[in-house]
Amino acid sequence: MAHVLIIGASKGIGLETTRQALEGGHQVRALARSAAAIGLSNPSLEKVRGDALVKKDIEAALDGIDVVIQTLGISLGDLFRPVSLFSDATRTLVGAMESQGPKRLICVTGFGAGDSRESISCLQRVPFQLVFGRAYDDKSVQERLIKSSSLDWTIARPGVLTGGKRTGLYKILDKPSQWRNGMISRADAAEFLVRQIDDRSFVGGTPVLVY
Ligand SMILES: NC(=O)c1ccc[n+]([C@@H]2O[C@H](COP(=O)([O-])OP(=O)(O)OC[C@H]3O[C@@H](n4cnc5c(N)ncnc54)[C@H](OP(=O)(O)O)[C@@H]3O)[C@@H](O)[C@H]2O)c1
Repeated sequence: MAHVLIIGASKGIGLETTRQALEGGHQVRALARSAAAIGLSNPSLEKVRGDALVKKDIEAALDGIDVVIQTLGISLGDLFRPVSLFSDATRTLVGAMESQGPKRLICVTGFGAGDSRESISCLQRVPFQLVFGRAYDDKSVQERLIKSSSLDWTIARPGVLTGGKRTGLYKILDKPSQWRNGMISRADAAEFLVRQIDDRSFVGGTPVLVY
């Protein structure tokens, strides 16, 4: 059983990660600006209203934590404005973890971030850049901050997210030659994240997750 902080826990992958980490017997601190609205109730769940961009919120949330899972996301409308949430929040988080612990960080970015950008097919490259370019440029900075930290990190890069069920049947593509786009449910992406709490085989890895 680990004490896990999930940053971005109120929706999407973060909410699903919260649910599955609780099922796995972990003690979960779920942070989001709308944490109070998390529709889960469990004695092992602590809902913490906080902003990933506010240093004191993050420093306080790290107290007593063994593992951090960062699953921040932005709205569709935000895709068409300058994006700095991912890098700003990660700069704050990495700084706080390096000075006060813990060392283990599991983070979601996405296929197309960092060096996986080169694996986007020719046909998808232009539309990807037009729609997701700002967000993924910032996710690439986020990945660089994590990779250059002294933390024990894993960066998970899911393909296109769906609302489908948890199947456990996704592929974990950890070699650049295997990287490709595809679909994966938020529930399966969350399963991978929760598995990393106890599994160190992907420390220092940037796997792409798709069916
Ligand atoms: N959509 C896709 O196909 C796709 C593909 C690959 C990767 N991804 C990535 O996967 C990640 C998760 O996406 P998702 O759709 O599952 O999640 P989402 O619905 O976008 O949820 C984002 C979470 O981040 C939290 N958040 C945002 N700003 C915050 C802040 N300043 N402080 C604290 N919490 C904050 C939100 O909570 P509050 O608003 O309550 O704070 C929410 O819990 C994203 O990074 C996304 O880019 C998406």
